Amino acid sequence: MESFLIKGGRPLRGEVTISGSKNAALPIMAATLLTEEPCVLRGIPELSDTRFMAQILKSLGADVKFEGGTLAVRAKKIRGYADYDLVRKMRGSICVAGPLLARLHKARISLPGGCVIGARPINLHLKGFESLGAKIEIEGGYVHAQTKRLIGATTFLGGRQGSTVLGTANVMMAAALAEGVTVIESAACEPEVVDLAHFLNSMGARISGAGSPTITVEGVDKLHGAEHVIIPDRIETATFAIAAAATNGEVTIKNCRPDHLRAVLDKLTEAGASLQQRGGTLTVRRGRKLMAADVTTLPYSGYPTDAQAQMMALLTLAPGISIITERIFESRFMHVSELARLGADIEIEGPSAIVKGGRPLSGAPVMASDLRASAALVIAGLAAGGQTQVNRIYHLDRGYEKMDEKLRKLGAKIQRVEEK
Ligand code: EPU
Repeated sequence: MESFLIKGGRPLRGEVTISGSKNAALPIMAATLLTEEPCVLRGIPELSDTRFMAQILKSLGADVKFEGGTLAVRAKKIRGYADYDLVRKMRGSICVAGPLLARLHKARISLPGGCVIGARPINLHLKGFESLGAKIEIEGGYVHAQTKRLIGATTFLGGRQGSTVLGTANVMMAAALAEGVTVIESAACEPEVVDLAHFLNSMGARISGAGSPTITVEGVDKLHGAEHVIIPDRIETATFAIAAAATNGEVTIKNCRPDHLRAVLDKLTEAGASLQQRGGTLTVRRGRKLMAADVTTLPYSGYPTDAQAQMMALLTLAPGISIITERIFESRFMHVSELARLGADIEIEGPSAIVKGGRPLSGAPVMASDLRASAALVIAGLAAGGQTQVNRIYHLDRGYEKMDEKLRKLGAKIQRVEEK
């Protein structure tokens, strides 16, 4: 296993270019299963998660070539079975269910199970498939979904924590080839859903309303091959923006979509960062002194759960009390005890973390528990005095393309080493 060794206390300075969005890429890669014609996707980030999704497409029978951020897929003949080993390793692989059901009228997919950030049920995905006429059975840890023909219907996908991103993606993909009109109510509004709708429409689908809570899909008989460029990763953008503020640096972030990040940019400003935006370029610097801020994670366009841990790392440096409330995933505070190892004073009270900020952090060995927690530990390590060793960075490699290289170009002292 590999670790990052970070010598902290140096401001990040310079330019960084953002990669394509992991969470847009995964469902869009799955959508290539909806047609037997070739598809080409550009701007796919080279990550263990996207490589894994490419493997899943192959295991389902597609021809796949993934090189230099371009993925060419031809799913001429496919099979409708994704086993436990595939789904267990990456929960995002559940988004092959919609395309398989639409194309083959049957799918047998392992239930993903929980993970370190929470329970992660798929009841809303299944509810959506059932609304379209699929018969669902659960047996031996597998979901069997089948139907003679999917028929458009109105379906409500709101859950306890709001909408579901991959659930909306799955139902939208299934509905694209259903007979008649499907209306998805309480649909997720995330930019990744909009990017998927754009790709599906370029394949010949008829989808309107993506980006709003009501999505309408007029089913078509067939979809054709298409080319698409994936949107920039808003969470990678948020991570570099927060790191710039945390290290008292000045970073110009290129190839980003500030319009996808309003809630994060608003909080950064409240916390004392100074931001300048020009088209797809954003410059972030600390500006004034850091200030405490309260953050509550919410579905888009609220503050994203995927940038909660990183903002917590920043707020440990801001004098005063910040209250961070997690409303999407109940256990997404695994980074708290590791941040405490660096000297942060944080207490968990139900769904909230109370951060008593302003104490300087000092380097220590810490353990990454999931993707975004790892990013938070890297930010804290960059801001801390002395050396921080972030262990288990395979979590980070799932979702950040060449993060260590990008940070080195910004002047960080960060090295990838074998864990001892
Ligand atoms: N939920 C249900 N039932 C369902 C589906 C979800 O109750 O059938 C609940 C979840 O338990 C959670 C909430 O709804 O409390 C939202 O979950 P959602 O379904 O939106 O999450 P997801 O689609 O499985 C995607 C991202 C996550 C990101 C969430 C929320 C991908 C591959 N994953 O997951 O990304 O945190 O949306 O924005 O797109 C990450 O990148 O680090 C990551 C975890």
